Amino acid sequence: MKIFTKVTDLNLELDLLRQQNKIIGFVPTMGALHDGHISLIKTCSEFNDITVVSIFVNPTQFNNANDLKNYPRNIDKDLSILKTTNTTILFFPENDEMYPEKDERVFKFDNLENILEGAFRPGHFNGVAQIVSKLFNIVKPNNAYFGQKDFQQLTIIKKLVTQLNLSINIVACETFRESDGLAMSSRNLLLSNEYRAVAPKIYKYLKDSALKIKNNSIEEIKKYVIENINSERLLKVEYFEIVNTETLNAVDNWDNNTPIIGCIAVFAGNIRLIDNIRYN
Ligand code: PAJ
Repeated sequence: MKIFTKVTDLNLELDLLRQQNKIIGFVPTMGALHDGHISLIKTCSEFNDITVVSIFVNPTQFNNANDLKNYPRNIDKDLSILKTTNTTILFFPENDEMYPEKDERVFKFDNLENILEGAFRPGHFNGVAQIVSKLFNIVKPNNAYFGQKDFQQLTIIKKLVTQLNLSINIVACETFRESDGLAMSSRNLLLSNEYRAVAPKIYKYLKDSALKIKNNSIEEIKKYVIENINSERLLKVEYFEIVNTETLNAVDNWDNNTPIIGCIAVFAGNIRLIDNIRYN
């Protein structure tokens, strides 16, 4: 695995590889790598000659200074994890390298950026679009891999690629879970034992709701999930919405055909966890 911290050095290497007609796959991350990230890297290395992973905790997507400060960082552990994978190149830039100038760009995604996560984390998706557009511009991958755990992010990235006329194939990867069902997340590292013990209830009730969806109204399903999770002493639902998988608009009545997904954000103490469930 080669490690690059500078854009110019990475460019030289990637230009060389492109001249050799290598197919380049890309997995952008913010580090604190876990098996969810590893599953993306595995898929990437299966379908590409070159697997580029980036680790960069992007300040512009944090709408809360404490969240940015507390975001887990452990590059030594990440390096030892990456060495067990088929990662060809790690891009690990400093802030000044990614933002040599203040990024003033404002992205609009047909209101997708303002709903669900966007409603509770203003500016978050603008920051994601800023960094991902820069990374795409630098790496110019053939394929880029994103997790369905961040379903709204994935939807927005697909729109970003369309808006910018990029020739990058966006590949959606399944959510990787702990054996007790908790969606893997770098933020899980921040959970104390007490909160970690109760966090799997989030997915438990999402799964239960999938069994109920055919015989209950959308309103009943929402009530079921929100009330049950809130009845757990240490969990507090921030939002739970059932939305169209394409438009992410809330669905009030379901015709059994429209593809829908339930998206949730839950506070376990002051740690914010997100998850989702496909209903069809
Ligand atoms: P990060 O949270 O590190 O996630 C990097 C990638 O891993 C994202 O595509 C995310 O959806 C995926 N991922 C996270 N947990 C997963 C899980 N349990 N199963 C499968 N995939 C999972 O998402 C970001 O970083 C940033 O916003 C980024 C895109 C890198 C831009 O800064």
